[in-house]
Amino acid sequence: MATIGPSIMCADMGRLQESIIRLHDANVDFFHFDIMDGKFVPNFTMGPDMIKSLRSHSGKPFDIHLMIEEPEKYIDLFADAGADMISVHAESTMHLQRTLQAIRGKNIKVGVALNPATPLSYLDYIWDTIDYVTLMTVNPGFAGQKFIPLTLNKIQQLKQQIDEKNLNITIQVDGNISFETIPQVIANGADMLVCGTSCLFKKNQTLEDATAKLKNFITKIPEYSPVNA
Ligand code: DX5
Ligand code: ZN
Repeated sequence: MATIGPSIMCADMGRLQESIIRLHDANVDFFHFDIMDGKFVPNFTMGPDMIKSLRSHSGKPFDIHLMIEEPEKYIDLFADAGADMISVHAESTMHLQRTLQAIRGKNIKVGVALNPATPLSYLDYIWDTIDYVTLMTVNPGFAGQKFIPLTLNKIQQLKQQIDEKNLNITIQVDGNISFETIPQVIANGADMLVCGTSCLFKKNQTLEDATAKLKNFITKIPEYSPVNA
């Protein structure tokens, strides 16, 4: 079954510790931290010290999504801050394979993120170096954007390639993952759902109620099957 990970950039920045504890207790599967540098994306969010300050409040995987230029300079910083998983954008570094190897060298899970327009061919020479692929289903940088429909085809094609190559690679989707798009992304092969304002952080719902509603909704969605995709 697809796993859910709150996108912490959407949480109440003034009550982050409380949010992590409450979401942990509500039994989310992982935590997704969008790191932005104002260059790769026109926005800023959080840094390694914030990750470090939250680390002791949950043992669930901390998934760090580096939406920054030259991520190779910062792998150690985020790994030492407590990352269990780090994804870097294929578009953000001149030396993608070397950067992925550096993450591997920290003994944490290795992810590559692709912007909506970036083709899957970017994966051709790094299949042996990644544990997961983050497919951006919106343009990166801001919460509250609209799902880009053509990314559904991309999820399906990626799932087909993973299955054809008999690889153990997880598909994470990030952006406007909502009660409308969740059935579609799961039907096309998505495994990890980054949950932000579209399905989890709602003004009129507690974190506990929103998480329970989301988990219950997902249990009712048919698992991926190549025939139906
Ligand atoms: C885009 C962000 C968002 C966020 C999820 O850069 O990564 O996808 O995490 O928030 P919503 O659900 O508002 O897209
Ligand atoms: Zn993200």
